Amino acid sequence: MVHQAAPAPTCALITDSVVAELYGKQARHSLEQAGFKVTLFVFPAGESSKTTRTVETAYDVLLAACPERRSPVVALGGGVVGDLAGFVAATLLRGVPFVQVPTTLLAAVDASVGGKVGVDHANGKNMIGAFHHPRAVLMDANTLRTLPKIEVQCGLAECVKHAIIRDAGLFDFISANLPAIFDGNSGVLTELVAWNVRIKSAVVMADPFEHGVRAVLNLGHTFGHALETLAGYTGLKHGQAVGLGTLAASTMARNRGILDDTSHKKIEGLLRDIGLLDFRPAVDIAAAMALMRGDKKVRDGRLRLVLPTAIGSAEIISDAQPEEVAAAIEAITSPSSRGARR
Ligand SMILES: NC(=O)c1ccc[n+]([C@@H]2O[C@H](COP(=O)([O-])OP(=O)(O)OC[C@H]3O[C@@H](n4cnc5c(N)ncnc54)[C@H](O)[C@@H]3O)[C@@H](O)[C@H]2O)c1
Ligand SMILES: [Zn+2]
Repeated sequence: MVHQAAPAPTCALITDSVVAELYGKQARHSLEQAGFKVTLFVFPAGESSKTTRTVETAYDVLLAACPERRSPVVALGGGVVGDLAGFVAATLLRGVPFVQVPTTLLAAVDASVGGKVGVDHANGKNMIGAFHHPRAVLMDANTLRTLPKIEVQCGLAECVKHAIIRDAGLFDFISANLPAIFDGNSGVLTELVAWNVRIKSAVVMADPFEHGVRAVLNLGHTFGHALETLAGYTGLKHGQAVGLGTLAASTMARNRGILDDTSHKKIEGLLRDIGLLDFRPAVDIAAAMALMRGDKKVRDGRLRLVLPTAIGSAEIISDAQPEEVAAAIEAITSPSSRGARR
């Protein structure tokens, strides 16, 4: 299938150390069977590898194999691999084809759709990047069975986000199928992935370069990115941060009176059932707010936030008041850090 999407004599296979162990041989073998000469690049698993330094090492390895402009980069792994390999594909030889093979729920439902690729910088997450759409995205739901529970929880954070912004039916599907999802039921997982991809691709196609409506996909992310940055990208996973950020957005919407209390409680209940509220970080609220103001989503100096207005719809606001943002962050932090507004 990769060969159909991007025919060439050679290809690059980029993956991380964990996925290489689990599926690297199989993936390489299947690419070779399809006629590719494969150059493999493996980097240490984890968000801390999503840097320009890893990208440079990838350039060294891939360029040594003299790739052609038509030689695809195949990303085998989670969102870290997809974002990094996609950025390599976007920039190598001014752009080569890119194929995604997501192996985490988060990558399957979210990161592999939409063409955003890039790496982190000390100043913030995903600060360096490009838009580079994959030629194809191939997923085998069976690979999700080896995911640790925390990674399933993180993927579900993005699924809940999609459900809140667009589709109450998806919200109910997730609520009703949590045991099957955590059991790795491939039928349920395939339906879950397909449903999310439909939602995300519809939003992305309406606004490919995020000039308007696409920003609703950032529900929970402006709060979440601040939490992630404060935790140094290692203390808190992206999905955990998004889950907490979604609760912060829901709390703020309820407090403003644009979301009814019943819907807010349903959102909180589902996040809790998934296990996304088990860990509440201690947060320096002033530092979090400073980071939120520095987020890429700030326009004309105004903080723009996505807030739910019902389960199935959300709106983008640009009149957030510091006190209500602080109250929303306070609602998601560990009780011990409350009151410590430095
Ligand atoms: N481009 C986008 O639109 C977009 C959207 C959402 C998130 N992201 C990015 O995605 C990243 C998070 O992605 P993630 O949660 O997939 O993280 P990840 O890629 O780090 O994967 C999580 C962990 O699971 C391991 N893993 C992967 N597949 C596995 C499998 N099948 N079995 C067992 N272990 C497996 C990985 O090695 C890693 O240790 C963040 O950097 C985030 O910014 C990008
Ligand atoms: Zn996300």
